[in-house]
Amino acid sequence: MHLAHLRLRDFRNYARLDVDFSPGFHVLLGDNAQGKTNILEAVYLLATLRSFRGVGGAQMIRHGAKGWFAGGTVVAQGEREIKMYWSARERKLSLDAQPVRKLTDYLGALRAVVFCTEDLQLVKGASRGRRRFLDLLLAQTFSGYLPLLQRYAQALRSRNALLKQRAPDETALESFSRELVKLGEELTRHRRELIPRLSPLARLAYRRIANDAEDLRLEYQPSVKRDFAVELAQACDRERTYRSTLVGPHRDEVQLLLNEKSAAQFGSEGQKRSLAIALKMAQAEYLTGLHGSPPVLLIDDVMGELDAKRRAGLLPLLERANHARGQVFMTCTEENWPQELGRDLQRWEVKGGALGKI
Ligand SMILES: Nc1ncnc2c1ncn2[C@@H]1O[C@H](COP(=O)(O)OP(=O)(O)OP(=O)(O)O)[C@@H](O)[C@H]1O
Ligand SMILES: [Mg+2]
Repeated sequence: MHLAHLRLRDFRNYARLDVDFSPGFHVLLGDNAQGKTNILEAVYLLATLRSFRGVGGAQMIRHGAKGWFAGGTVVAQGEREIKMYWSARERKLSLDAQPVRKLTDYLGALRAVVFCTEDLQLVKGASRGRRRFLDLLLAQTFSGYLPLLQRYAQALRSRNALLKQRAPDETALESFSRELVKLGEELTRHRRELIPRLSPLARLAYRRIANDAEDLRLEYQPSVKRDFAVELAQACDRERTYRSTLVGPHRDEVQLLLNEKSAAQFGSEGQKRSLAIALKMAQAEYLTGLHGSPPVLLIDDVMGELDAKRRAGLLPLLERANHARGQVFMTCTEENWPQELGRDLQRWEVKGGALGKI
């Protein structure tokens, strides 16, 4: 799978961009603040409908413009044409010139995995980030997952709103609880199945890039231990005190363990960094295994931060993507340019919101 064409209008610092990309290795070179990350952000947006910087559509509108457009041609088995437009008033998304009505019809048109400095939050940050990581991967591999997640979130919001009232309507509460349990059990099941598949991949990836011999293991710690309905009923009194739903997959945790010890609590900075990259490598490997072709890899600033040994651990993944006629986009400034990438790559100069082939 590769992105053959990228078109941007009024997106970040790009007033207009039309560029063709072949499969393989692309290096985006440029000084700071020229628009390298913005390109990766746009590609990721086409793949996931989200910015990896965790911002909404408004921030991506070029200053002074009304809305942005991002579009692309994806070549996989066939060719697919993606068009997205976002403004305060209007949002449009089309695939092959047809408006997208259901997200399930869209996701999978382009698959991407991003490696960026924010990944460190997967290890250091709150459990929400790790749930998101799982959710994105499940959405990339199972088309029914996202609608399920959205319905769960909706049921949860309604239920929480009801719990905020002084005297909640018992019948309504009951019916939201049933909905929550039904959807929640399904979510938990998917997450429970994913972790044992992902954990060995993450362990291997960690082995390859870390400078230590510790073993990485991912452990799913679901909020619901046995029976969601029973545990929800048991939390009833506490829920009335806190006025919100206290058990359910929205409270799940994924523990990252190095030699069975919490990496967040006991890991060194270097170990946490390696771990964050290992998680993304595992995501890419998992997607490759499942779909038979690698996702587009987007690598932002990461190579520059890694020492030689860790770079050497990451390179095989990139090379495999390259050989499988996949695609890798990597940003660098001239100083942190990884020499060992060899000659088999395409270099682009990024300057002031324009892209030029070197
Ligand atoms: N909404 C926006 N409208 C116009 N320009 C924007 C917008 N958002 C960001 N920019 C500009 O985009 C540039 C940053 O682009 P980007 O983050 O891609 O830089 P970069 O080349 O990755 O730099 P670095 O090497 O520092 O990471 C900055 O000049 C910033 O002011
Ligand atoms: Mg950048």
